[in-house]
Amino acid sequence: MEKMWAGRFNKSLNRLADDFNSSIHFDSRMYRQDITGSMAHAAMLSAKGIISKEDCSAIIDGLESILADIDNGVLLFDSEAEDIHMFVESELTKRIGDVGKKLHTARSRNDQVALDIRLYLRDEAKKITSLIKALLSAVAEQALKHRDAIMPGYTHLQRAQPVTFAHHLMAYAMMFIRDISRIEVAVKRMNVSPLGACALAGTTYDTDRNMTASALDFSGITLNSMDSVSDRDFCVELLSAFSILMMHLSRFSEEIILWSSWEFKFIELDDGYTTGSSIMPQKKNPDMAELVRGKTGRVYGDLMALLTILKGLPLAYNKDMQEDKESVFDAVDTVKQCLSVFAPMIATMTVCEDNMLKAAKDGFINATDLADYLVRKGIPFRTAYKCVGEIVGYCINNGFVLENLSFEKYKEFNSLFEEDLFDCISLQNCVNRRISEGGTGPESVKKQIEYVLEFLNDKKSFY
Ligand code: ARG
Repeated sequence: MEKMWAGRFNKSLNRLADDFNSSIHFDSRMYRQDITGSMAHAAMLSAKGIISKEDCSAIIDGLESILADIDNGVLLFDSEAEDIHMFVESELTKRIGDVGKKLHTARSRNDQVALDIRLYLRDEAKKITSLIKALLSAVAEQALKHRDAIMPGYTHLQRAQPVTFAHHLMAYAMMFIRDISRIEVAVKRMNVSPLGACALAGTTYDTDRNMTASALDFSGITLNSMDSVSDRDFCVELLSAFSILMMHLSRFSEEIILWSSWEFKFIELDDGYTTGSSIMPQKKNPDMAELVRGKTGRVYGDLMALLTILKGLPLAYNKDMQEDKESVFDAVDTVKQCLSVFAPMIATMTVCEDNMLKAAKDGFINATDLADYLVRKGIPFRTAYKCVGEIVGYCINNGFVLENLSFEKYKEFNSLFEEDLFDCISLQNCVNRRISEGGTGPESVKKQIEYVLEFLNDKKSFY
């Protein structure tokens, strides 16, 4: 196929070079955005008297028919085309004749592609945000179901203090709310139109960039034409937000994997989200969570590829930038896939409250509460801490736990102990007395869940 730019060349592009140069096999996914952008551009050209009304309606009708035919599978992408922009334009000219050749007035593929990616990412960010919200509501629902389930809270993966399962889940909810906020902010900054910047320097035509911007629902226009065509910050920002989101999903996955092991058995994943082994009949593997953890590396890789592609580029457009798309698309696809299985996996998991409680008991996770007990009797925390440390040491060496050590023994360690110490170290009381804001106490967790539910109902904004 002859290239649109063939005029100044004496021979055609080498076959391998042509394939190497072509991006149609991946940028065709932006056909809707490309065509919508072209429609807005044609309408502006006509409104400004740069093309006639008749030409404009022929162009718009032609573009509409192309869009419908691609949507219906009637028109297939030509693998010989250089990219989606060239494909649409040459198809238009095939359909409406020479009028189609007027569409590219006061425009370049450089501002066109910058526009298409913004439109594409704006759409995809919306879908990703609603997938995160679906996950958030699955998390909130599990938290509501298991509000009072006590489990060990860990530091260094060592049992630390008792918390409720709902409190633990709410920690993830806060991360996901921040993820949504990060995406929203990135989209807001991205939502300005580069269309009309042309190749790099603007144009000699009397165009109206604000008109195309508002037709395409942008909040404004980019202010420097060279920046408009060379900027991919918005891709980097979104992929950063996606990477952080994946990091959260990966941490959650790690816990799901640990919790579903026989050593923990805090949860049982639904059969629909686990797999068996080809050799070991007893196996039930948390593959979905493992894959999400693995795919996190892939999204980080996409971000790193993008940053590396951009780092040495002089202004303005360079063909290196064609390489942005596969990273961006891969990150979008991967994040969507991960969220789509993660939310129902969380919604359908069974929580083994008894096992959580069993793990929380007998592990000295109430030792801090015992020290606090002594503090309330009037001794300094550090002294109380030392005394309880000695009690714990004694218990470990003699096969006791804090709950079954005799009152007389306690008295030997410190005469301030009274019978009510046992009440104080009951796990339920340890949790109930964590009354500080944001703590694991029931009031605080209730508030956290309410915040998340209100956020999901659009009644709360980000903090
Ligand atoms: N396929 C190209 C890309 O994705 C479109 C822009 C081409 N511009 C150019 N001056 N060759 O970057």
